[in-house]
Amino acid sequence: MMMKICVIGTGYVGLTTGAILADLGHEVFCVDKDKLKIEKLTQGEVPIYEPGLKELILRNKKNSHLHFSTDIQSVIKDCPILFITVGTPTNEDGSQNLTAINDVMDTLVQTVTSHKTIITKSTVLPGTNEWIQQSLIEKGIDSSLFDVVSNPEFLREGNAVFDMMNPDKIVIGVKSSKPIQVIKALYEKLHAPYIITSLTGAEMIKYASNAFLATKISFINEMARICDAYGVEITDIANALGRDKRIGPSFLNAGLGYGGSCFPKDVSALEYAAKQKRIVPEVLMAVQNVNDSQINLYIEKLTRKLTNLDGKKITVWGLAFKPETDDTRESRSLILINKLLKSGAEIHAYDPIVHLIEFPITIHQDMYEALKEADALIIATEWDQFKTVDWKKVKGYMKGNIVVDGRNIIDPKIVMNHQFEYIGVARQ
Ligand code: UGA
Repeated sequence: MMMKICVIGTGYVGLTTGAILADLGHEVFCVDKDKLKIEKLTQGEVPIYEPGLKELILRNKKNSHLHFSTDIQSVIKDCPILFITVGTPTNEDGSQNLTAINDVMDTLVQTVTSHKTIITKSTVLPGTNEWIQQSLIEKGIDSSLFDVVSNPEFLREGNAVFDMMNPDKIVIGVKSSKPIQVIKALYEKLHAPYIITSLTGAEMIKYASNAFLATKISFINEMARICDAYGVEITDIANALGRDKRIGPSFLNAGLGYGGSCFPKDVSALEYAAKQKRIVPEVLMAVQNVNDSQINLYIEKLTRKLTNLDGKKITVWGLAFKPETDDTRESRSLILINKLLKSGAEIHAYDPIVHLIEFPITIHQDMYEALKEADALIIATEWDQFKTVDWKKVKGYMKGNIVVDGRNIIDPKIVMNHQFEYIGVARQ
């Protein structure tokens, strides 16, 4: 059944959600206050790099399934289904800045005259959807005119289109069973089991998922430290662990740690939420400590080899927080570069997609050119093209012979055969 949907907020989640719902056959209106962004989207310019997304947007724009508008009120009036996908940044004390959601609610108060199913996709702290429900009533909307649903997303940047088309579950948090059929009709073309829970239960599932994945990464990074001391190869350990069905193979890649707009923010938000209820979340705190200190481990190893970093020319391959995205939020690479700059190093960098960052470094268009006269090379993002490197060519460009593999994507033996010194953690 074709439904008329309004997606409020054209950030990463909003655009992907809107484009995919349009592709599933619905008529979708993506709205945003940002006039320039909407203008660009209307002209077919997609502001983020996400494989497959641009094609999806163009296709659905062309067949009139997908529209962009700044006229939020009239779109809301017209659509029975509203998705909230606005940003929810973290305040300094760890609480969430809900200004954007508040603005949406104020617009709803002025606009809603017929029934709306209001679906929150933004990641919000436990209790927020209950608060939205309550606030809308307090602001004057009759409770019979809306249902609030929490429907968190589990998309990975770089794989978002695939992940949304092939979900392993669809989580629905509701206050009553009324909106469940609406959500099922919305996603009727997707084949995934439904997990139906309370509003707060759905919010908690999202945080628990990200916190667990971050825990796996910090666990393997801590194991790597221990393995390093015992001369054990960490990829052997991860491989064996991953074959145990109870553990599973993903998120066991040791390296510089996790970055991005989700894990760092969500783990600390969950810590904040726990502490609000006087619970000390010991595991979550340890997970963050391991992640925060992981970069220093590599820098210490590099400093030992180069004696000091002052004046050294270091090339960093990879700026995005992970492959297949242009997103540099909380990128380990940028945090690493910042630390290296503070130690006096001169940084040259290359990334297949990111060509601009606000750091005093030189970004090159060619990965080999970036290596000219370098004392050391650091691989900071696990882009595929860094896995198949012409090491002879690298040797020709570099002055020094140190290769730091911050993502465990290189076989140490191969680089050592080319007379490089390999720095990793627990690589033999
Ligand atoms: C993450 C979750 O994987 C998604 O399910 C979730 O929907 C999303 O957050 C979100 O909350 O919106 P994302 O941040 O796009 O997705 O990226 P991931 O693929 O999870 O990677 C996060 C970080 O962990 C990256 O910096 C990556 O390099 C690092 N990582 C990942 C490791 O260091 N080791 C691993 O084994 C895996």
